Amino acid sequence: MERWIEHYSSSQEILLVGEGDFSFSACLARAFGHASNMVATSLDSQESLWGKHPSCVSHLNELRQRGCLVLHDVDVHDMDLHYFLSWKKFDVIIFNFPHAGFYPGLGESHFQVIEMHRQLLRGFFASAQVMLYSGGEIHVTTRDDFPYNTWDVEELADEASLVLTEKVWFEKSDYPGYRNKRGGNIDSNKSFPLGESYTFKFEVESDYGY
Ligand SMILES: C[S@@+](CC[C@H](N)C(=O)[O-])C[C@H]1O[C@@H](n2cnc3c(N)ncnc32)[C@H](O)[C@@H]1O
Repeated sequence: MERWIEHYSSSQEILLVGEGDFSFSACLARAFGHASNMVATSLDSQESLWGKHPSCVSHLNELRQRGCLVLHDVDVHDMDLHYFLSWKKFDVIIFNFPHAGFYPGLGESHFQVIEMHRQLLRGFFASAQVMLYSGGEIHVTTRDDFPYNTWDVEELADEASLVLTEKVWFEKSDYPGYRNKRGGNIDSNKSFPLGESYTFKFEVESDYGY
């Protein structure tokens, strides 16, 4: 029986990238009852993840028990070339709260920091768009208030020939157990305010009738 949680269904092949403590992936897995349709990944190695997010241990155990493939050291810039991911296609690729890290002395509104976040998204979009089934979707959930809105997610997606199909208010409580994490190297395990957060859904332009 197909089971849904918000935009996601147990019958979709789902790739999650840039996970923090894997609580979002674990939430989907619980909602589906199994996770054999999911690949959940982090940039961090397993060892570094344990240090940054001690809460990942129970989520990773749950994911594996439910049949999820968990991969570490997956960089969104070249994930399409990854030894396992290179031959797989997905219906949905999810990156929640992409963030290129923190730089002492430089605030989030500094142009160099903004450019680093933009570069991360550029790399993600370019790599993700070749990993989709026809009609597949890329979902980026991010804050859409200042200074995060200066990243201009839609413009970056457009550069990768992706078209915005929907922009939906993100409600954290819709995802029981999900704890959004700062990541990076400073206070990694802390949460952060979600401000005005939205899920931006993109499709490849040619699949969308352009
Ligand atoms: C603000 S945290 C959000 C973590 C998690 N998605 C969440 O919602 O709690 C940003 C995440 O982006 C990841 N990240 C940064 N650069 C990345 C890259 N090049 N490839 C994959 N993930 C990356 C970090 O490891 C970190 O986990």
